[in-house]
Amino acid sequence: MGPDITNIISANNKGEMYAKAFLLSGTQRMPNFHLKENEIDELIAFLTYVDKTGISPVKKFSINIDGTINQE
Ligand code: HEM
Repeated sequence: MGPDITNIISANNKGEMYAKAFLLSGTQRMPNFHLKENEIDELIAFLTYVDKTGISPVKKFSINIDGTINQE
């Protein structure tokens, strides 16, 4: 339904204000959820936390019959 926003806070040219703008107004493709200011702040705090948990997308690997792996 929507893009991966795992690293939206640390992404180049994006970040907190950018994410806040989507939540405040929505877009033609993302609904405006009419959130309260404190709800938006809490979501930004959550996204800031999530951003620090790792880098997305996770790399995909396939396992060969002999147990070696290939990165897809
Ligand atoms: C609280 C939940 C949500 C948060 C925090 C959120 C946040 C965001 C953010 C920050 C972006 C910008 C992504 C980027 O440019 O890389 C985005 C885009 C988008 N989101 Fe959400 N979103 C939420 C829920 C949803 C839901 C429920 C839908 C679908 C019904 C949705 C659909 C989209 C779409 C389609 C885009 C691309 C918008 C465009 O380019 O016009 N989002 N969202």
